[in-house]
Amino acid sequence: MNTLQQKYAERITVTLDKYPDKRSAVMPMLYIAQEEYGHITPEGIAQVAEICDMDPTQVKSIAGFYTMYSEKPKGKYWLQVCVDLPCALRGADEFHHWLLDELGIEEGGTTADGVFTAEHVMCLAACDKAPMLQCNFHFEENLDKDKMRAKLKAWRDEALAAKNGKK
Ligand code: FES
Repeated sequence: MNTLQQKYAERITVTLDKYPDKRSAVMPMLYIAQEEYGHITPEGIAQVAEICDMDPTQVKSIAGFYTMYSEKPKGKYWLQVCVDLPCALRGADEFHHWLLDELGIEEGGTTADGVFTAEHVMCLAACDKAPMLQCNFHFEENLDKDKMRAKLKAWRDEALAAKNGKK
């Protein structure tokens, strides 16, 4: 049993049960691997291949095809701010630049403590709820600076607690 199977046993079982064939679960398994390692690693690919009963080369080619998987290291929290036109009309562009300043990073950069990566993306289909972003693929909507500061603090506290073994 590999690391992912040990750490995410229930989630993996529930996900596999949704599909008639293990191979069909490769994308949700890649999400789990990315969550565990911060990006798609050879180790994660090997484990997903084992879980889905696939060749690692096939898993790697799928991970390389889709933009929601990253082979570069990301922060624990991967913030993707939509700045497409409808969101931009609701202040998303300015919000995105404010967020980068708040984190002290450039576009696509990662904070020095490794907690956050932030970048802009195109439409996430929540156009009426801007400014919005997805954090590790969970939507955060109708944001403003105060709400965002509170979220950043909560996520950073959680990341540091986990790093220090308190969680
Ligand atoms: S334009 Fe931002 S979610 Fe659609």
